[in-house]
Amino acid sequence: MNNNFDVIVIGSGPGGYVCAIRSAQLGLKTACVEVDKTLGGTCLNVGCIPSKSLLNSSEMYHKAHKEFEKLGIETGDIKLNLSKMMNNKKKSILTLTKGIEFLFKKNKVTYLKGKGLVESVGTVAVVDSSGKRNHYKTKNIVIGTGSVPTSIPGIKIDEKNIVSSTGAISFEKVPKDLVVIGGGYIGLELSSVWKRLGSNVTVIEFLDHIIPGVDKDISIEFQKILNKQGINFKLNSKVTAVKYTKNKTVVDFTDNKSQKREKIECDKVLVAVGRKANIGQDITNLGIKLDSQKKIEVNEKFQTSLKNIYAIGDVINKGPMLAHKAEDEGIAVAEIIANQAGHVNYNVIPSVIYTSPEVAMVGKTEEQLKKDNIKYKVGKFPFLANSRAKVNNESEGFVKIIADEKTDKVLGVSIISSVAGTLIAELALAMEFGASSEDIARTCHAHPTHSEAVKEAALAVDKRPIHF
Ligand code: NAI
Repeated sequence: MNNNFDVIVIGSGPGGYVCAIRSAQLGLKTACVEVDKTLGGTCLNVGCIPSKSLLNSSEMYHKAHKEFEKLGIETGDIKLNLSKMMNNKKKSILTLTKGIEFLFKKNKVTYLKGKGLVESVGTVAVVDSSGKRNHYKTKNIVIGTGSVPTSIPGIKIDEKNIVSSTGAISFEKVPKDLVVIGGGYIGLELSSVWKRLGSNVTVIEFLDHIIPGVDKDISIEFQKILNKQGINFKLNSKVTAVKYTKNKTVVDFTDNKSQKREKIECDKVLVAVGRKANIGQDITNLGIKLDSQKKIEVNEKFQTSLKNIYAIGDVINKGPMLAHKAEDEGIAVAEIIANQAGHVNYNVIPSVIYTSPEVAMVGKTEEQLKKDNIKYKVGKFPFLANSRAKVNNESEGFVKIIADEKTDKVLGVSIISSVAGTLIAELALAMEFGASSEDIARTCHAHPTHSEAVKEAALAVDKRPIHF
């Protein structure tokens, strides 16, 4: 093999593999290094994709149990076969990871198996599973090595009884009692999966509300919905210790206000208190700067402090830790290397929590606008008044559009709906085009669809919704 490349991407997650494909499309001789057995990184192997498979299967199970009869669908005994559910998940992952291998071949991206290490500007070492170190020359290096779960000081994740998301997507039996530490994205998605499959779930969250950073309206309404589904919450509570003894796990936590100490016994504990950059080598001694959270510092062109070494995705000090943000950065960096104008608009990155109903957001929240002293108006429309949601028995949630008080430009949108993740795309596109709420209100939306609630929320910004 000719060991000289234009671009070597380290890491094959959504940021890395997309960057490699786009680089190759642009005529750059490209390689992508991956240390895991399969391509796709956390997202495909132990993150977004497997969790979505379980969210989908567990929702079907739940519906078959609790909702079919109401609709006039009579079934026999419905039983859970967890190992079959897990196998279905594994099959989907395998197809998708193989799909990336196919795309690499199709685009002539060289797949280098092993741990990629930046040796110097222009050289990457790849250490294979036998420990053999091969060296590759390259004009550009892109670091896209992702993130790993963090824990709480003194709490050791063993992936058996005290697990991260990786362990919680592979339980062999449904835990009777599951404690989830952290009411963020991972905590709430996996709480939903195991609650639907039969666990008693308690979420312990440090803050006085769930999902930090989202619009307060959304956080309050969403918690009510999850409560109704039977998920218990202990808010304003700090977990201080988790111990596994005599087949039981004990979680100690303290109420932040009263300082009262409590304990819960359970079978499994999921620690979902955030993720940290996974760099995998000491790059500071090469001269690459990290910020105070040990993330790689990059400029607006994704350049690190060393020339021709770029970084993207969860390892960098920019934007949320989301797969689609990493993908867009991967494309931008490939285009920048090819002397094009690669760019990511950090003001318009949607985020979605894939529970049932889903929660989706894009742009600013009311709280952020208040802090920035920006005057705004709000339009809200409930799915209770949307005919399609109503006939589908999906009338929980609402669309909330925030627009500039003077110009009417859309500044932010939050949605709770069974299809919030799909609906948010329209709003992200509208915001990319600098749309006003009136632009959305004057756009014809098909009837009967959930999307009419988006139009109605836009009408509500001007206080003229039709159906509410
Ligand atoms: P997160 O940052 O979303 O939530 C962690 C929560 O843990 C916070 O609410 C925090 O206040 C709480 N916490 C921290 N220390 C605590 C303590 N000692 N006791 C009780 N609570 C405590 O982190 P999460 O859920 O682990 O997700 C990690 C990353 O993965 C996020 O950046 C998220 O964006 C991404 N992700 C995105 C998904 C999606 O797009 N649907 C799905 C899963 C993950």
